[in-house]
Amino acid sequence: MQHEGFAAPLALPPPERLVLPDGAVQVWELDDKQVDPACARLADTLAPDERARALAYRHARHCNGYIARRGLLRWLIGAYLHCLPEALRFTVSAFGKPVLQWPQARLAFSVSHTDGLALLAFARDCRLGVDVERRAGGPDLAEVANVPGFGRGIFSAQEARVLARARPASADAFLGIWTRKEALLKALGTGLSADPTAFTTEDDWRRGAGHWRASRDGIPMSGWTCLDLDAGAGFRAALAASLPEASVTWHRC
Ligand SMILES: CC(C)(COP(=O)(O)OP(=O)(O)OC[C@H]1O[C@@H](n2cnc3c(N)ncnc32)[C@H](O)[C@@H]1OP(=O)(O)O)[C@@H](O)C(=O)NCCC(=O)NCCS
Repeated sequence: MQHEGFAAPLALPPPERLVLPDGAVQVWELDDKQVDPACARLADTLAPDERARALAYRHARHCNGYIARRGLLRWLIGAYLHCLPEALRFTVSAFGKPVLQWPQARLAFSVSHTDGLALLAFARDCRLGVDVERRAGGPDLAEVANVPGFGRGIFSAQEARVLARARPASADAFLGIWTRKEALLKALGTGLSADPTAFTTEDDWRRGAGHWRASRDGIPMSGWTCLDLDAGAGFRAALAASLPEASVTWHRC
C-alpha cells in the first residue's frame, strides 16, 4: 500500500559505520513516508511469526508500519552486533516486551510508534525505554486524569497536581507526563501492568531543560538519564535509560 505524500528514500548507513559506544543512546526516527521503502527493502528479513503478526493487522497501513519497524529494528541490531538481520531471534517477556534471544548480547532496545512516526532507541548494558505520542488537539486534558480506567490509575498525586496547575491548557503537560511515564515503564519492562501511580516523573532543572527525573514510592531513582526528546512539532516523546550520564544522539534514515 502507498502512503499519502511522497515516499522518501531509505538511506541506511553502511553497517560497518554503525558504532554504539558504552554510555551512548542512539535514537532512530522512521517517519511514515519511509514506511514503503523500508518495507520494500527490509521485509525479507522478518521471521515467520513476525510476518504472521504483520498480516494479522486489518489495515495495510498498520501491516506495513509493523513490517517497516521490525525490519529497521533487525537491520540496526544486526549492524550493531555484526550479524545478519534475518539471523536474529526475538522472544517476548510475560509483559510483552520484545527480548533478543539470539545472539545473547547486552544490547538494550525500545520501540515506540504513533500515527506518523516511529522511534527506535538503542544502548548497551542498561534498561531503556522510549515513547512517542502525536500531540492531540484539545486544550484541557487535566480532567481526563480523573477518568477511571484512563487517567485515574496512571498519574501519581504529584503529577495530578502538575496537571491541575497547567489548566486550562493542560494537553501538553498531560502528554509530557504520559510519554515520560511510558518510557520509564517500558525501560522497566512492565509497561502499564505495573502500578503507574507508584512512579512520579518531574522536571529536573538542575540538569537542564528537557531533563526529568523519576521516583518510585517517593524514593528517587538515581543513576538514570531521563529526557524529553524533540521529535518535531506534532509529537511528544521521552526517553529513560538506566545510565547516569548517557549521551543521547538522534539519527534519521
Ligand atoms: C508497553 C506499552 C506501554 C506500549 O504502549 P503503546 O503506547 O500502546 O505503544 P508503543 O508504540 O509506545 O510501544 C509499543 C512497543 O512497545 C514494546 N513493548 C511492548 N510491551 C512492552 C513492555 N512490557 N515493556 C517494554 N516494551 C514493550 C514493543 O516493542 C511494542 O512494539 P511493537 O508493537 O512494534 O511490537 C503497553 O503496551 C503495555 O503496557 N504493555 C504491557 C501490558 C502487558 O502486561 N501485556 C501482557 C500481555 S503481552
